[in-house]
Formats: sequence, structure tokens, C-alpha cells
Amino acid sequence: MSATDERHAALHHLRNLFRFFARTQCEGRSPLYTRLSEAIAEDQVLLEPLLLAPPGQRRPSLLLASVNHLISDRRNHPLAAYYPIHGGSRPVDDEAPAAFRDFCIEHADELGELLTHRNTQTNEIRRCFALRLGLTRIARHWPGPLAVLEIGASAGLNLHFDTYAYRIGDREADAQDGSPVVLSTTARGGGPVDAMLGRLPPVTYRLGVDLDPVNLSTDPAAGPWLEAFIWPEQVAKLQTLRAAIQLARREPPPLARADAVRDTARLIAQVPGRMPVAVFTASLLSYLGAEGRARFVAQLAAAARERPVAWLFTEAPGLVARTDVTTPSLAGPLRDIGGIYAVGVSLRERNDRHDEVLALADPYLEWIAPARCGGDDFSWAADTGLHEPPRSAGG
Ligand SMILES: C[S@@+](CC[C@H](N)C(=O)[O-])C[C@H]1O[C@@H](n2cnc3c(N)ncnc32)[C@H](O)[C@@H]1O
Repeated sequence: MSATDERHAALHHLRNLFRFFARTQCEGRSPLYTRLSEAIAEDQVLLEPLLLAPPGQRRPSLLLASVNHLISDRRNHPLAAYYPIHGGSRPVDDEAPAAFRDFCIEHADELGELLTHRNTQTNEIRRCFALRLGLTRIARHWPGPLAVLEIGASAGLNLHFDTYAYRIGDREADAQDGSPVVLSTTARGGGPVDAMLGRLPPVTYRLGVDLDPVNLSTDPAAGPWLEAFIWPEQVAKLQTLRAAIQLARREPPPLARADAVRDTARLIAQVPGRMPVAVFTASLLSYLGAEGRARFVAQLAAAARERPVAWLFTEAPGLVARTDVTTPSLAGPLRDIGGIYAVGVSLRERNDRHDEVLALADPYLEWIAPARCGGDDFSWAADTGLHEPPRSAGG
């Protein structure tokens, strides 16, 4: 393929990616990003800068976050008026795409710099609801102290899960009263929520690893870059993230650089003692590719020959279904559902296995629908429209 053909194919791919992103990720969550993504898809001038990023980083979120980052200290620009997180209050209208286009052209050099050198980097701490749910389930199976190893931990904010306060609707977990970080979500589907608000098992070892760990205490640019991935309407979420970043600066979570595909068995083996290790992954599988995912689960299986290992996941169900995890729901109703995550555990000890989907959830944990009973196959989910994105803006 000639260089021109390659460029053409890459732009075509990006165009489809933005259309898909607008429809499946933005609609119902962000009026501004829906409108902008639709406009970017049809505008070569806006698509082209993303070609500066390495092929694996050419994602809509990278362009939108880069602009969000730049506009955070250019609040006089007309585009800023559309960003509630930067104090704007203008409803999305026909002029928003033009303001975005002008901004990208006026700041082309700085934008190019960010797109060339920065990676997509998010840390969605509401996923701690999934972590709590999974740890409670694991503790029922293996009472006693646990180790938590998050793989793909980003800045490691989820590792402070037991210092945050939690609210589901109007119900609260009472153990973390007074925490500066309050996580909120809503429950759907009618299943019981108690396991997400009850007492946590003792966690005596914790470590987060990432291919590209974000060190908030040594890198002053890391916090603002994480914040840039908050969507324009999510004012409350930005405040929560800032509070979690401050906490992490005061008490840095234990973080290391490692690769899920190569290092998982070694990381499990190096946990002191014989206690079970809960390996938490949240939105990691889509980064690994089919071969990487197979190698990751093979390492879990190998490690489980030596000590109890639980894989605790909040991931796209279709990707989990294509690993060695088997549950009635993953074999059937959930296998091909898009736009939602499955929260579950795979408990492994020598030849014993227990796989269970504990809940369905919005990928950003804006809502969670716990199983209605043990071994639930979630066949009810299709009738309740759970895989439709919520119609309100996220917060
Ligand atoms: C979408 S972020 C999720 C971060 C965090 N788990 C959360 O839920 O907020 C995915 C993370 O996985 C990391 N990652 C991607 N491939 C990886 C690999 N092979 N090994 C370890 N981490 C990886 C990325 O660097 C990124 O920080």
C-alpha cells in the first residue's frame, strides 16, 4: 500500500470510529461530545491531527481530551462556553462544531504536541463499586485476609477503595464516614445492593501495576491530564476525581510498571504468604488483543496451581466470554451485548473453579444492576433495557 493509500485508509477508519463513538459512547451521556464527534467524523481537517498519534493511540477520546486539556486555561475562547466543567453554560447548538474547529486550528501546534506524545489515560474510581462487590464475594469463598493486585491500574486510585465513602441512590456505606472522596452510583434491575455497602474483608497487601503507570506525586502534569478525560458535563465527577488525586498525592498508592501479558504470574507469586490474591482488572481486556488476553488468563491458571487466585473483572462481557471464564450468562444472553460491562469473579484453586457474573454495569459505573440471585443468567436484562445508555447526562 502506498503512503497516500495508508493515510486514506487511516482517515476512513477514524471517520467510522468517531461515528461509532458518537452513537455508542456519547449519546445519552454527553450532548457536547455527541455533537462534536458527529462533526469530527465528517471533517478531514479535524480527523487529520489524530494521525500524529501512534496507530494504537488514535482514539476519539485522545483528541477530545487534548482539546479539553488546552481549553481548561483558555476560558475566554467561545468553545469554553460549552464546557460546564470549565464554568460554561451555553447549551449545545449549531455553532459548537465551528467553535471546536476554530480552536483546533488556532492551537494546532500545542494540539499536535499532545497528540504525538500523550496516551489515553483514565482512572474511573466509581469502578470501586465493582471491586467492593467482588471482594465481598471472594471473602465468602475464602474467609480471611486477601491481597489485591490491580492490573492496568493507571494512577492506582482504585487501590484507595477502602478509604472512599460510597452511596448507591440514598443508601450509604457507613464505614468510611468523613472521606473527602464520595463515590455515587445508582442501582438498576432490582437486585440486592447490600454487598456493595457492607463490611470489606481485610486486605493486607495491595499493588497496582500498569504498562504506563501514572505517578501523581512526582509528575505535576499527570493530574491535569487525567482530569482532561472527564467529559464536559461531568462537573461532580471532576470534583470527585480531584479529591481522589489529592488523597493519592498525600498517600501514594503502591504502583509499579508491569505487563499483564508477561508478568501476571510473577506478580501473583511475589505476594508474601499463602493468602488468596484478588487480581482486579477494570477496562483492561480491550487493550490486550486476542493473543494477549489468552496469555493473561493462562497466567492466572498457572498461578492458581500454586495458591488461591480470584480474577475480579469489570469488563466487556463479550471479551470475558472469549476467555476461559464460563457462566450461563456469558454463554448466552451477555455474549454479544455491547455498551455494558459484566462485573464478575473467577475463583481458581488448583482444579477447582467457580465463575460467576455478579452484576451488569455501565462501563463508567454510572449504574450497576446486581444479580437477582446466585448464578443469575441475567436473561431478564434484555427486557429491562439495561444495555441502552441512560438518557441523562452523566455526572
Ligand atoms: C482504561 S484504563 C483503566 C484504568 C483503571 N483500571 C480504571 O478502571 O480506572 C486501562 C489501563 O490499562 C493499561 N494497560 C494497557 N495494556 C496493559 C498491559 N498489557 N499491561 C498492564 N497495563 C496495561 C493502560 O496503560 C491503562 O492505564
